[in-house]
This record gives sequence, structure tokens and C-alpha cells, in this order.
Amino acid sequence: MQIQQLLFSQGFGTRRVCAGLVQQGLVEVAGRLIDDPGLELDPEGLVFRVQGVDWLYQERAYLMLHKPAGFECSHKAGAWPSVYTLLPAPLRERGGSAAAGVQAVGRLDQDTTGLLLLSDDGRFIHKLTSPKHHVPKVYEITLRHALVQKQIDALLAGVVLDDDPKPVRAAACQASGPCALSLTLTEGKYHQVKRMIAAVGNRVEQLHRSRIGDLPLPADLAPGQWRWLTADQLQALAYRG
Ligand code: URA
Repeated sequence: MQIQQLLFSQGFGTRRVCAGLVQQGLVEVAGRLIDDPGLELDPEGLVFRVQGVDWLYQERAYLMLHKPAGFECSHKAGAWPSVYTLLPAPLRERGGSAAAGVQAVGRLDQDTTGLLLLSDDGRFIHKLTSPKHHVPKVYEITLRHALVQKQIDALLAGVVLDDDPKPVRAAACQASGPCALSLTLTEGKYHQVKRMIAAVGNRVEQLHRSRIGDLPLPADLAPGQWRWLTADQLQALAYRG
């Protein structure tokens, strides 16, 4: 693959901008400055440096972000900044078109914190968000009122939300304190946790997603930080491309 095409595929701008980066001496491979935008390289496992920052070539992007409170999961943020502003520009611009870049795998509310996956692989996003695939998502909830066993029983038995007569049930539900609950869902309806908790007569004060499939939010990933998913982590999500 030509270095200019490689840079384009990784989100460094239009083909012309990418050729310009090379011509301006801003791109290095293996410690060597590249001056020919047409230089052919094997992209597999290639580490390249653009303006002093190292990147590993990734055919597809799979990321995790520790979403902080106060960020929206939409590209065009309204009252709150977009989670996409927490990512470097190339990740937002991979693929080159207006609708390009990584997309959040489902959405978290502005005030929800925790594990958010992002990718530019449509099949991956579909697999993790489709209710057909039953990927469990674990939420840690702080409640306004003390939890009672009847509420846990109702969440497990199924509650009816206002937009669908079919009850939705938690796959698992465990008290983790007098006003705290760990809830596992395998679908992702709009405001589902908050609406389920309201349906049993309580209220969500704080909501944090701690796990998706077998992938926990790493303890050393601070709010606002992102990282690439490793092959093992992709496997923990039962995803093999
Ligand atoms: N359920 C909600 O109510 N909010 C979220 O952010 C995620 C799940």
C-alpha cells in the first residue's frame, strides 16, 4: 500500500493532505523520514510516526473509552460536548467521508459513566447492539431510595415500559449496597435502566457501565481516556471479525 493511501485510510486527511504530510517531512517509518508519497509499504503491523506521534496501522478500529459524565454520545453535540472530542482527530476521520470515523457501539446518556466501545466496523457494532445476540451489559446503579427485595424480584420477572407492552427483564440483578444495585441487560432500549428502575418505584441517581460481555472496564483506564482493544479483548466480546 502506498504511504499516502495508508495515511488516508487511517484518518490523516484527504489523499492530497496525506501526500502533503509526506512531502513536508512529517512522516517517519522505522526511524526513517519518508519523502515519497508513493512509497509502497506492507501495512500489516506497521508502526508509523506522524508529526512525532506513533501509530500502529489498524485495518479496522476497535476502541474502548471510559466515558465521563457530561458528554453526549452523538457526533453533533447539543448542550454537552461530544464523546468524539475525547478521541484524536484521525480516529474521528478514518475513511475520509463526512459519515466516517469510529461510531459508538450503542449510546450512554450524558450523565452515565463507564465502558463505551467505538468502532468503524459495522458488523461489530451490529453484533454488540442487536438484541438478537444477547450480549450482556452490566450497570452499577446508585439509587435514590433504599432497595427492597420486591424491586429486585420485579426487575428479574420483567417490567413493562411505556413504549412496548412486552415486558423487559434483567438478565441478572444483585444488591451491592442499601442503595446500590448491579443490573445486567442484554438489550439496549432508550434510557432502559432508568425506565426499568422507575417502573419498580425507585430512581437512578448515578449510572455506570462496568462490563460488556466478558470485557470489564479496566481499573487503570481513567475517565476520558481511550485505548485500542487487544485481540484478547475482542475475543472476550466473542468477536472474530
Ligand atoms: N440505560 C439508561 O437509562 N441510560 C444509559 O446511559 C444506559 C442504559
